[in-house]
Amino acid sequence: AVSAAPFPDPRSSAQEAVQVCTEAHLRKEGRWSGQVDGRDVVVFHHQGGSYCMDRICHHAGGPLQDGDIEDIAGHACIVCPWHKIKITLASGESLYRAIDPATIKQRPPKTRWTSKGVKQRMHTAEIRNGNVYVTLSNNEQKVDSDYYYSEEYKKLVSSS
Ligand code: FES
Repeated sequence: AVSAAPFPDPRSSAQEAVQVCTEAHLRKEGRWSGQVDGRDVVVFHHQGGSYCMDRICHHAGGPLQDGDIEDIAGHACIVCPWHKIKITLASGESLYRAIDPATIKQRPPKTRWTSKGVKQRMHTAEIRNGNVYVTLSNNEQKVDSDYYYSEEYKKLVSSS
């Protein structure tokens, strides 16, 4: 399943599982990043789970493969090294600190971690027989990180 298209849109076709690295590599390094059918993805191994998402941060194109994983209000998150946006490993949701409305009259009001919704496209990572496989998401729902694979972005890059 190798695609020649530089900016593929995984929503357009059925996807198949692609072997990306060994389980031993993923366990040792904690992460793998590279291209699957021309799409940049990163796989994280964290507390026994494997998670795959678009590698390019939806916010401004930061390299998520270089981020640290932190626990944010009980959610394991990758923290983008560029502007520290926190993205849940489990769902690709972006978390931010919002003012807790119950404390709005307090000085200062309290904040709580709140989801902006799914901003980073999640793919499927599976470990089988000592190898790690990634299946790209073909979910029709558009996600912010899709921008880096859009015609609009392609034009921007080719004109600069
Ligand atoms: Fe990732 Fe801004 S590019 S937080």
